[in-house]
Amino acid sequence: MTVLITGGAGFIGSHLAEALLERGEKVTCIDSLNDYYDPEAKKRNITKALQNRNYRFRKEDILNQKALEAAFQEAKPEAAVHLAARVGVRPSLKEPELYTDVNIKGTVNVLQLARKYSVKNTIFASSSSVYGANKKVPFSEEDRTDKPVSPYGATKKAGELMCHSYHSLYGMNITCLRFFTVYGPRGRPDMAPCKFTRLIDQGKEIEVYGDGRTKRDYTYIADIIQGITAAIDRHLGYEVINLGNSNAVELQHLITAIEKELGKKARTKQAPPQPGDMPATYADITKARRLLGFMPRTKIEEGIKRLVAWYRENKDHT
Ligand SMILES: NC(=O)c1ccc[n+]([C@@H]2O[C@H](COP(=O)([O-])OP(=O)(O)OC[C@H]3O[C@@H](n4cnc5c(N)ncnc54)[C@H](O)[C@@H]3O)[C@@H](O)[C@H]2O)c1
Repeated sequence: MTVLITGGAGFIGSHLAEALLERGEKVTCIDSLNDYYDPEAKKRNITKALQNRNYRFRKEDILNQKALEAAFQEAKPEAAVHLAARVGVRPSLKEPELYTDVNIKGTVNVLQLARKYSVKNTIFASSSSVYGANKKVPFSEEDRTDKPVSPYGATKKAGELMCHSYHSLYGMNITCLRFFTVYGPRGRPDMAPCKFTRLIDQGKEIEVYGDGRTKRDYTYIADIIQGITAAIDRHLGYEVINLGNSNAVELQHLITAIEKELGKKARTKQAPPQPGDMPATYADITKARRLLGFMPRTKIEEGIKRLVAWYRENKDHT
């Protein structure tokens, strides 16, 4: 099978490409290598994959329809995994137009081509941020998601709706996976697990928003990859599925786990809660278990141990 991955040089995309290559699939990745974070880090993410003869990388923007079409035309993929997006909640408040362009128009571009080239299965990377400030936990796919609290969350919800319309009109198989705070080796440098590891190691102050009791359902990268590959292998019509660890961890607990692994104490500074931030995320994964056989196995302590080990080996670059 050939799988086309957009955003394939990013954190999740690069792990997915390696996992698919390992099981013998052909992989085409498209990534603009944008500078949301250091593009050199993205190039390092794909160094191993580039050595595999079943791997093809194209530095393209998904907003460039011609270039995107050339990739579909050449690869003729059986499955497309659409991960390319402007990411991050807080920056989306500053550049809502850019987030709208890439995350909504870019998604439509991918759906149009998936349709035109008869792609049998499409996976869309959605996010726990669609749940907004939902108070009911754990978050279930049945819960209302029409009150996102950031432009980023709103664009992800819009992406899901576009996916549904393509399924409904053209009978396409499309699975929207709502990822919950993914972390691990090669993790995004703007997200708390990687950012705090780096700052605590360097003896720099970390800002703790609110009282440190906000909760995130941190999900280890290998578990997420298991969920994505299971979704690639199943043609489900249209489904929206949470992929989380189903364990909400307080920010202070994350900090303590990182301190323990680094053997260093954090210097923390209290800061007000950030606009657009959700107080808690916590996934109900009953549906993922049922439809995908999803079984997250990595406890936060074990995941942080592996993240810190990777950080130590790569800290000259991070
Ligand atoms: N990491 C998480 O915790 C998390 C949580 C929820 C949802 N997601 C979603 O999962 C997907 C992957 O996230 P990630 O954490 O790997 O982020 P990432 O930033 O590491 O990867 C995204 C990649 O997309 C590329 N990209 C961005 N705009 C592009 C464009 N216009 N054309 C081509 N490529 C483009 C970037 O260069 C980057 O390499 C995103 O859609 C994100 O919204 C991630």
